[in-house]
Amino acid sequence: MCGIVGYLGPRDGVPVVMDGLQKLEYRGYDSAGIATFVDGELAICRSVGKLRELQKKLLQADLAGSPAIGHTRWATHGRPTEPNAHPHVYHGVVVVHNGIVENYISLRGELEAAGHHFSSETDTEIISHLIAREIEGGRDFPAAVRAALSRVRGAFALGILYEQEPQTMIAARKGSPLVAAYGEQQGEYYLASDIPALLAYSREVIFLDDDEMAVCRPDGMVVMNIADGRECRKEIHRVTWDPIMAEKGGYKHFMLKEIFEQPQAVSNTLLGRVAENRRQVELHEVGFSHDDWRRVNRVVILACGTSWHAGLVGKFWLESLARIPTEVDIASEFRYRDPLIDEQTLLIAISQSGETADTLAGLQEGKGKGAKILSICNVMGSSIARQSDGVLYTHAGPEIGVASTKAFTTQLVCLLLLALDMAAARQTMTEEEIASQVAGLLHLPLLLEKVLELAPRLEKIARRYHRASDYLYLARGLNYPIALEGALKLKEISYIHAEGYPAGEMKHGPIALIDEHLPVVVLVPHDRHYEKVLNNLQEVVARDGRVIAFTAAGDRKVAEFSAEVVGIEEAGELLNPLVYTVPLQLLAYYTAVFKGTDVDQPRNLAKSVTVE
Ligand code: AGP
Repeated sequence: MCGIVGYLGPRDGVPVVMDGLQKLEYRGYDSAGIATFVDGELAICRSVGKLRELQKKLLQADLAGSPAIGHTRWATHGRPTEPNAHPHVYHGVVVVHNGIVENYISLRGELEAAGHHFSSETDTEIISHLIAREIEGGRDFPAAVRAALSRVRGAFALGILYEQEPQTMIAARKGSPLVAAYGEQQGEYYLASDIPALLAYSREVIFLDDDEMAVCRPDGMVVMNIADGRECRKEIHRVTWDPIMAEKGGYKHFMLKEIFEQPQAVSNTLLGRVAENRRQVELHEVGFSHDDWRRVNRVVILACGTSWHAGLVGKFWLESLARIPTEVDIASEFRYRDPLIDEQTLLIAISQSGETADTLAGLQEGKGKGAKILSICNVMGSSIARQSDGVLYTHAGPEIGVASTKAFTTQLVCLLLLALDMAAARQTMTEEEIASQVAGLLHLPLLLEKVLELAPRLEKIARRYHRASDYLYLARGLNYPIALEGALKLKEISYIHAEGYPAGEMKHGPIALIDEHLPVVVLVPHDRHYEKVLNNLQEVVARDGRVIAFTAAGDRKVAEFSAEVVGIEEAGELLNPLVYTVPLQLLAYYTAVFKGTDVDQPRNLAKSVTVE
């Protein structure tokens, strides 16, 4: 979490950094700050609250200069106050930081014993003190950064300036994401936590690896190893995302835009992955062969939050279609339970951002035990993608809203493609069966367009029920994870307490919650569970619960018992989770709008959770 942006070059860096921070505000938004040199003098502006508070302050401060570094914060150490906001400065060394200095207490004690005084409660401030101490001990700026960082345990992505060397900007990385980029003009460089911050300025990026730092000066950028200072040769990547993709494009919120982008996003996920005959899946890009798929004897899926829900659906597909035993683990749990993994295990890490610390650590744990790693990521060049043996990119485009929407549906598409490819390799499905699922996938964007037409209906339902204090979501089978996802969406953006439950499990506890005040969302697709879910729905009605049912368009039985019915044009049993997801996203969205919450940046959350 936390976003950092930096600029060095001939133009005024302040608007560039502020623009970049705006694109990164999803990474944290409890305070923000920026530093630059005005006529060689260090100038810093910081503010508590969202970026707009900093913008207001900047209007009065009249700051302009280069280089400039900025930060948007998600507090870990120290409350969101102005003294705790970044940049932190000590003896002219200016630092913005994303990550955690794990040994900050001992380092702070050591520095205080040597006479250092601190002006914040943060772990970050330690870094500026350590660097300043090395400079005062006689090292040059880059060497001082290297020496200081060798003392730091934990994770960091850093932007660093030094008042006595106002033509130098240093970026350093270990465990937290950081990209450096070349500008259009000679001597122009950028750094940022994530690509959307740079899209308006640069397409040529370098992904810094752990333990690397980039020293940017007007005459060039040098990437070196932090430990020994040796120069590293880095590949320059061309980013294909369009800057328009990171704009709201007329929608009130990014989340709404991203919900409506799903038909296109799913088409992009499918692009190039279906054979010309439109009957088979082609996943050569992931770097695993059909022989590899035949050797796999077990799949372990690792993920957090929404991506974990995608994994739960993936388990169903991998087991029922490719007949591979599959476990799905919450990444933060997996790494601490000494899991049973071997060389024939395929570990699938699912992550929109590709930077989630728990998922990354789980991946490393599995890799250490010999598993082959396939990741399903949205962000190109992200840490999880780069540490995997193969990557299946979702191609959803930048997802800015903190609540994940199009990343989820495209993750599902990737998982189904994978299950079909594995099924083909392992001959667990006939060619005809595979062809029929491929046809379903190709038809999906159209069905998603149709389901989006239900938006006004969901807005009405949201208006009616937005004052509820709790919600229950029920479904069975493949759609049970969709109930979990619907509940997560509602709670994260509307702050209404919501629980997702397998409908058959309701009688073992949650049934006690049901009364006339509780809206109960029930997913009743026309599949093998239909009758059973209908019984569960009636159990809710018998206890005066207010049922909001989602079922196949035209269903009369469900309508008979429910307070509200939303008719869905279905996609078939295997693909239904995708079409049932979208209306739940819309229900959560409109509920949040009626409640007046901050839809794109809900309280306490951050888009990319890079701390444990
Ligand atoms: C989704 O709406 C959440 N904001 C969150 O649960 C998210 O899915 C989770 O943090 C995992 O993120 P990732 O996909 O980037 O790894």
